[in-house]
Amino acid sequence: MVGKAKNVDYSSVPTTAELESNGNQNKYTVNRKPNSGVTLSKLTLALMALGALLLIALAVGLTILLYPHCGDAAPEAFTHAVQPVAERLPTNLAPIHYRLQIIPFLTEKNFTTSGAVAITFKVNKETDKIVLNIFDMEIDKESVKIKRINSTDHISVTDQQFNDVSQTYTIALEETLQKDDEYDVEMKFTGHLRDNMQGFYRSQYDDPKTNTQKYMASTQFSPIDARRAFPCFDEPSFKAKFTISVGRPSTMSSISNMPKRSTDTMLEKTNWEWDHYAETPLMSTYLIAFVVSDLTAYRYNNSTKTLFTVHTRMKSADQIKLIIDLSPKLLEYYESYFNIKFPLPKIDLVGVPDFGFNAMENWGLITFREVTMLFDENSATIEDKKNTVAVLAHEVAHQWFGNLVTPAWWNDLWLKEGFSNFMCSYAIPKIYPSWNYMDEFVLDETYQAFRFDYFKSSRPITLEVVSTDNIRQMFDSISYSKGASVIRMLSHIVGENVFKQGLIQYLNQYQYSNANHDQLWSAVETNIKSENKLETTIKEVMDSWILQAGFPVVTAVRNGTTGEVHLSQKRFLLTKEPANKTLWWVPISYASDLKPHLDDTKPKLWIRNVPEITAVIEANHWWLLNLQQTGYYIVNYDEHNWRRLTESIIIFPPTTRVQLISDSMDLARANLLDYDIPLKMLTNLAVQDKDISFVTHRAALDKVSFIRNMLISSPIYKKFEDFIFRIFDNAFTKVDFNDLPYDEYLVQRIRKLITKWACTKTESKCTNTAQILFRKWIENPVKDKIRPNIQEVVFCTSIREGGETEWDLLYNYYTKSNSIYEKNILLDSLGCSQKPWILNRYLDFILKNNTHIRKQDSSRVFKSVANNPVGYSLAFTYLRSNWKQLNNHFGSAFSIVSKMVAELPNYMNTRFQLAELESFKNANINDLGTSSQSLDRVIETVKSNIEWMDHSYNSIDKWLSDQAQYYGLRKTTKNSLNGPNTEL
Ligand SMILES: *[C@@H]1O[C@H](CO)[C@@H](O)[C@H](O)[C@H]1NC(C)=O
Ligand SMILES: *[C@@H]1O[C@H](CO)[C@@H](O)[C@H](O)[C@H]1NC(C)=O
Ligand SMILES: [Zn+2]
Repeated sequence: MVGKAKNVDYSSVPTTAELESNGNQNKYTVNRKPNSGVTLSKLTLALMALGALLLIALAVGLTILLYPHCGDAAPEAFTHAVQPVAERLPTNLAPIHYRLQIIPFLTEKNFTTSGAVAITFKVNKETDKIVLNIFDMEIDKESVKIKRINSTDHISVTDQQFNDVSQTYTIALEETLQKDDEYDVEMKFTGHLRDNMQGFYRSQYDDPKTNTQKYMASTQFSPIDARRAFPCFDEPSFKAKFTISVGRPSTMSSISNMPKRSTDTMLEKTNWEWDHYAETPLMSTYLIAFVVSDLTAYRYNNSTKTLFTVHTRMKSADQIKLIIDLSPKLLEYYESYFNIKFPLPKIDLVGVPDFGFNAMENWGLITFREVTMLFDENSATIEDKKNTVAVLAHEVAHQWFGNLVTPAWWNDLWLKEGFSNFMCSYAIPKIYPSWNYMDEFVLDETYQAFRFDYFKSSRPITLEVVSTDNIRQMFDSISYSKGASVIRMLSHIVGENVFKQGLIQYLNQYQYSNANHDQLWSAVETNIKSENKLETTIKEVMDSWILQAGFPVVTAVRNGTTGEVHLSQKRFLLTKEPANKTLWWVPISYASDLKPHLDDTKPKLWIRNVPEITAVIEANHWWLLNLQQTGYYIVNYDEHNWRRLTESIIIFPPTTRVQLISDSMDLARANLLDYDIPLKMLTNLAVQDKDISFVTHRAALDKVSFIRNMLISSPIYKKFEDFIFRIFDNAFTKVDFNDLPYDEYLVQRIRKLITKWACTKTESKCTNTAQILFRKWIENPVKDKIRPNIQEVVFCTSIREGGETEWDLLYNYYTKSNSIYEKNILLDSLGCSQKPWILNRYLDFILKNNTHIRKQDSSRVFKSVANNPVGYSLAFTYLRSNWKQLNNHFGSAFSIVSKMVAELPNYMNTRFQLAELESFKNANINDLGTSSQSLDRVIETVKSNIEWMDHSYNSIDKWLSDQAQYYGLRKTTKNSLNGPNTEL
């Protein structure tokens, strides 16, 4: 054994023999503390807390929702339990057609709307009331009229009530509406064009030509805000056809989902016109959209039948080139993949200056945040470009997954979001083969989802939701990234062809209608040839992944003589938890040095919903499970195999290296593996990999960041920093600042990634160069302009090393910059200051109506301060002191405050900080809104950080001291880094 010879205490690392003699995965837990058990006082406290919560809930007559009970862990009260329970709409009535007329008053600056809607609906079950959704609008009670279709006799209305909790308007009738009959309900209403980026809302921007402020009105209805714009049955399964007319001043223009059929002058108002739009196909309310603006339209022809038009205030045709090129290519790709033509005649693409999400897939009218839609070669970074491409590919995929076939309810949001993320990974490599886009999939999706799923507070992909806050919280990495990851897993289980046929069947079967996950499973199932049937159903396998939170660690211990492998599964959690009995259907693919077919991802065995199995794997040297991490889980091996994999790391392709680094680092972080393994692996790789592969370095540095954050204010930080700078010396010194516009995509990504790291150290060549570039730029802003890819590192480093002068200078520059990309980089960099007073002054900009920072961007201010080791506690104090104001300011729609909360725990690892967080949570228990899940995750993260300090701080300290002689000698003896391994 390595450690013993080196005087390091590895006594807690089990030997291979120990592992093999006892298959219990718990044995491979290093440095385990004796189990303290739950003391009575803690239990009592927990019960008291639960009791108190129940009392509060009962007192106000509300219902407590319990989180789905997993294994034998105690059920936990969901923190948004204390929310009023909203109700779904009754299903007695089904809308068939909407006739909507709406006028936004922008130029008058009273920012209201005036509208009329007539809804034809069918009665499924007789009733004497009509219940539909409205919110933040006034109904003209006199105007409400109901009649049987084709009849002139009105049915009398006896009562009209608005319910604030379920956001419904109930119209009580004198007569009963008869089953199977059709009726019309019509009403007039006044709505509001707020600046909250929800419903039909206003956005404003400067017009440089006239030097005035301009307003436009645009929509964001997803998920539940169509009800703010017009009365409607605002649930995705109430599909209907819509005939829309939009009123506007004759100087402005409008667009909607469908092409314009005609324009009339408005009789009541001079210089106003009505635009009348063609009737839509059957669709859900959340996909309706209309825009009234002065934006410039760029129409262009392409090979597809679909007409594309880009609408933007940016006058530069350069900036829309990327989206103009890509949109038809993506549309054609999906049309041919799904074998279903895009059903609408056109797609409008609109850049909206104020926009809550990245983009919204409204059918035929995709809206974007400007910085996402436009791409300016001269001021955008390579990551901006990737983002634009990925978001567009996602939104276009939605035209099928979501728009044509819509999830029946928000519990299955992943059926559209997970799929659209997944489909990007098919479409983008077709357009940009050199990007190796698929290599990043596990980093962007699977590991992104792990960040939520590491914790007990995570949730299943499919989750029953009713309240508005819970619906909004579904738009998280579990729906998007875990959704995409389990879809990828399915495609590797059944094979690409069966998978594709299944999707095509699903889309054809449910087009213009709705579906749930069971219907997807059976569409895939029926396409599996009988000879290839699994031992069970797709439903049984996949339900284990979508109906349960978390993911397993598969522990694999092989007997070197017999080749027999003992495989067991257990939920992977970063915090120590009582035994958890969640089980999955785990597909196992494998390879070994004897059969190194790393792309043979079809499962060779299954852990069939049982805790453990045994199998035989032939290998002489190394062996590997879960090839290309197509299964949504991580693998722990016996020490013997870990050592072999560590030695051989360089022979594996980048995706396998990423997986080995990530799995071993995660296991070490959870105290299931000694840090000796991942740190040696990193060392071997960093030193031997002369090529600098982007994904490998990204994964490695990402995992190192966690350790860095934990140690950053500890006495051993310098030792750790020295180690990192020595092993990554090759990359850190090789990559320079000479960014060129024609550099390849991956070269640009590597430059951005590596320089950011190399400059974290004050006394480094990187920091020095960054400061020189900054000074040159100040003296000569035009000649020595800094290329976008290196702007962030140059600005952040110079702000960090500088003082008030540098800060004021950069902020001033921010207020004058016209580039939306540069503005974001500047906001991120201004948080790098080391001066608390500067950081606090900066935080104050969030709520002080700062005319220079858009609401949509001001959370960047918070994020940049929270990600600064000097700033994070200031950020927490700020959030605590301004909790109510922040929630009022940002509202709940885009989880902006929840994203701020999520930034809190990066550097927190003390019991004191945990207590502070818990008292913050308790003090605001009824006001957590859409931040509740986020805060629970933060608290769990800090708990796991504290545990990490307990179990790993000393061992990392020792490890670094022990290795010092090896990395110290690195420059003279090339192979010395492998020194410790040679003893194996
Ligand atoms: C807003 O202004 C328009 C146009 O002047 C007017 O017709 C409308 O009634 C006003 N709305 C409100 C609520 O005052
Ligand atoms: C209503 O009248 C229209 C036009 O006369 C006719 O096409 C339609 O079938 C009628 N609908 C019903 C439900 O009677
Ligand atoms: Zn989406």
